[in-house]
Amino acid sequence: MIEVKNLSHSYGKFKALDNVSFVVEKGDFIGLIGPNGAGKTTLMNTMVGILAADSGEVLVDGAGVEGFQADVRRKIGYMPSELATYEMFSPEELLKFLAAMYGIDDTTSANRMSNLFEKLEMTEWKKKSIKKLSTGMKKKTAFAAAILHQPDLLVLDEPFESVDPISQHKMKEILQTYLEQGGSVIMSSHVLDTVQNICNKFILMNKGEIIRQSSINTLDGSLEDEFFELVNSLNIAHEEEITEDEDEAED
Ligand SMILES: Nc1ncnc2c1ncn2[C@@H]1O[C@H](COP(=O)(O)OP(=O)(O)O)[C@@H](O)[C@H]1O
Ligand SMILES: [Mg+2]
Repeated sequence: MIEVKNLSHSYGKFKALDNVSFVVEKGDFIGLIGPNGAGKTTLMNTMVGILAADSGEVLVDGAGVEGFQADVRRKIGYMPSELATYEMFSPEELLKFLAAMYGIDDTTSANRMSNLFEKLEMTEWKKKSIKKLSTGMKKKTAFAAAILHQPDLLVLDEPFESVDPISQHKMKEILQTYLEQGGSVIMSSHVLDTVQNICNKFILMNKGEIIRQSSINTLDGSLEDEFFELVNSLNIAHEEEITEDEDEAED
């Protein structure tokens, strides 16, 4: 089980993540949704330790992620929304490098790699340099890199963005198997239909805060309606506050 407790992060004076708490249970597939700038990427980067939290903590089976303990951190696999750092590698080189880093033996890593490349229809591209690949192929490389060491939790930042429908389907199949084998996933996405179809829970963020977290099956209507209703009502309330402030200023 992964617990995110009172997590906050600021960029300078701007609080991009404000006291966020939730739990990821074994087998959960959580859809993290919210408008652009809501703080989804900041949350994910803080969860995996790329950004340091100002306060709060992330506990994996009771142990904290902070402090770079390899045994805790390897329980999480992260797919960033962009794979800029490793562009000089080919997908195969990147995965070999990661396998070595995680201490996965050669036979196991070769099997997992060929399995992933085949399922994701990447075999033909695995030796090309990542920077020359299409966006979709880069995404699939990042996805394979996140899942290769079979982490307990996958953190996926907009995994389906710019990925063609067939590749999306392949990724979803791999995720399904991963969940059935006891994995958990948190995924940010703007594709609300997909979140409603494949996730069991959702977390809706707005301006650095969680404004609703719930099971998908408790929704009466569509997730899209829920999203619009909550985000709009908050923004209208916010505009009214501003107008009131202005009115007061005039008085
Ligand atoms: N490196 C940064 N420096 C300053 N502000 C940032 C930085 N990264 C993100 N932000 C700001 O933090 C807020 C949340 O951004 P982000 O977490 O990327 O949101 P999301 O992923 O939900 O679109 C935005 O207002 C964004 O402009
Ligand atoms: Mg983002």
